[in-house]
Amino acid sequence: MTFRVAILGAGPSGLAQLRAFEAARRDGADIPEIVCYEKQSDWGGMWNYTWRTGLDAYGEPVHGSMYRYLWSNGPKECLEFADYSFEEHFGRPIASYPPRAVLRDYIMGRVAKSNMREHIRFNTAVHWVDYNASTGKFAVTARDLKQDELSTEEFDHVIIATGHFSTPNAPYFEGLEQFPGRVLHAHDFRDACEFQGKDLLLIGSSYSAEDIGTQCHKYGARSVTFSYRTKPMGFDWPESFSEVPLLTGVTGKTAHFQDGTSKDVDAIILCTGYQHHFPFLPNELTLTTHNRLYPEGLYKGIVSLANPKLFFLGMQDQYYTFNMFDAQAWYARDLMMGRIALPDAAAMAADTREWVAQEEQVADPFAAIDFQAAYILDLLGPTDYPAFDVTKVAEIFKEWEHHKEADILGYRNKSYRSTLTGTLAPVHHTPWMDAMDDSLEAFLAEAATKPAKERA
Ligand SMILES: Cc1cc2nc3c(=O)[nH]c(=O)nc-3n(C[C@H](O)[C@H](O)[C@H](O)COP(=O)(O)OP(=O)(O)OC[C@H]3O[C@@H](n4cnc5c(N)ncnc54)[C@H](O)[C@@H]3O)c2cc1C
Ligand SMILES: NC(=O)c1ccc[n+]([C@@H]2O[C@H](COP(=O)([O-])OP(=O)(O)OC[C@H]3O[C@@H](n4cnc5c(N)ncnc54)[C@H](OP(=O)(O)O)[C@@H]3O)[C@@H](O)[C@H]2O)c1
Repeated sequence: MTFRVAILGAGPSGLAQLRAFEAARRDGADIPEIVCYEKQSDWGGMWNYTWRTGLDAYGEPVHGSMYRYLWSNGPKECLEFADYSFEEHFGRPIASYPPRAVLRDYIMGRVAKSNMREHIRFNTAVHWVDYNASTGKFAVTARDLKQDELSTEEFDHVIIATGHFSTPNAPYFEGLEQFPGRVLHAHDFRDACEFQGKDLLLIGSSYSAEDIGTQCHKYGARSVTFSYRTKPMGFDWPESFSEVPLLTGVTGKTAHFQDGTSKDVDAIILCTGYQHHFPFLPNELTLTTHNRLYPEGLYKGIVSLANPKLFFLGMQDQYYTFNMFDAQAWYARDLMMGRIALPDAAAMAADTREWVAQEEQVADPFAAIDFQAAYILDLLGPTDYPAFDVTKVAEIFKEWEHHKEADILGYRNKSYRSTLTGTLAPVHHTPWMDAMDDSLEAFLAEAATKPAKERA
């Protein structure tokens, strides 16, 4: 094929796009010329842990928001690639909630068995993307970080797979500049041990607050106070946790809340989410959205309505992750290769409006899971991505929600059945609250792994 495709980012979404093209090539198709730009020195995206915060060694913003001791917050059975099971990768069944290094190993395992790395330019940050309407081509300008050199190349399609959990949304609260302890955003949180014996205030009531709070408790924080804007998480928290309304300000080390209460705290962590941030896109190509299930402006959740030769992968709020990125990548590939036809602009806009309107009816997490399942099924229909039981995965997500409600510190001890292999995961050898070592070696230590009892 004579056309050129640029993929921005080699995280799970960018790698899904590479894998989709690779699958077509293996089936004998003629695939385009692909260049994948990645500013980190390795693939894996968010799953690469870095000790750095702020700027990297070359002055680029550090991408990583993951921290030490991070364990999957959803069952691995819900994110399993349909064309590469966990069992195939590890050679045996493993427990349902792996730590970061184990998931990273799995993501890498699928792509390591191909020549996809050859397409990736590591240590290369994209700084600008332009579209020339007269030539119908994009110009991608990137900085080779090691050489400190800018260069520009032309492409027929651009895939933005740069993630959206990296640029902090960091609101201001009165008095923060005088606060005598640490104030940081979740993006810069690295090690819970720093907060041993401390009283912590976490702003936010979503996954980062929940996970950083429970983790700090696990590693010895004295107390954890969550401050919510809209509603509390409402879990059955142990005694040293509390949930209070929004922070109104701090005086010295005293935090004041909307209900008139106050508490002295040693550190404040803003778990207030992230911005969709595309500093390399001009106004007419950028995507403006918050963290939602169906971003406005994207047909099928991936095709830019502003320019249908531009794609965005993984920009949704995420229940489904890796297998949803695959579904998106296969669909995008088939559009680019002419296997699926794009409707006209009016039809794309109408279809997108319809999905957005449906999302607006979503009332709770259970409906959100069903909505995302329906979206994935819609994408899978016309592609040859291997079949997987999207609806069964939705049921596992719902079970997971119930397990969290029942025991927020113990839900990671549960086991689920793979929809691909039918195997029920073994119970991990150590309950999550006691598992202080998050290394791949400790997690896979076989001698201590017990088979799961069948649940009724
Ligand atoms: C703290 C945290 C915990 C999470 N835990 C889970 C979990 O347990 N389970 C789960 O399924 N998901 C989890 N996620 C969601 C996670 O974001 C996805 O699993 C996945 O990493 C998204 O893949 P992505 O490729 O879209 O983005 P990313 O993984 O963010 O990858 C984007 C890539 O683009 C690169 N990039 C960015 N800008 C540029 C540029 N200008 N030029 C070149 N390259 C660039 C980055 O370096 C990066 O490699 C978590 C997210 C966070 C923040
Ligand atoms: N172990 C893990 O696997 C793990 C750990 C952490 C994060 N993650 C992942 O990381 C992703 C991001 O999660 P997230 O929790 O960082 O972001 P998020 O889900 O977008 O939630 C953002 C939170 O910040 C609050 N907020 C935003 N602006 C605020 C303001 N001005 N004042 C007060 N509160 C404000 C929001 O409150 P409202 O409800 O009022 O909007 C919401 O509670 C998710 O995909 C999650 O799964 C995973």
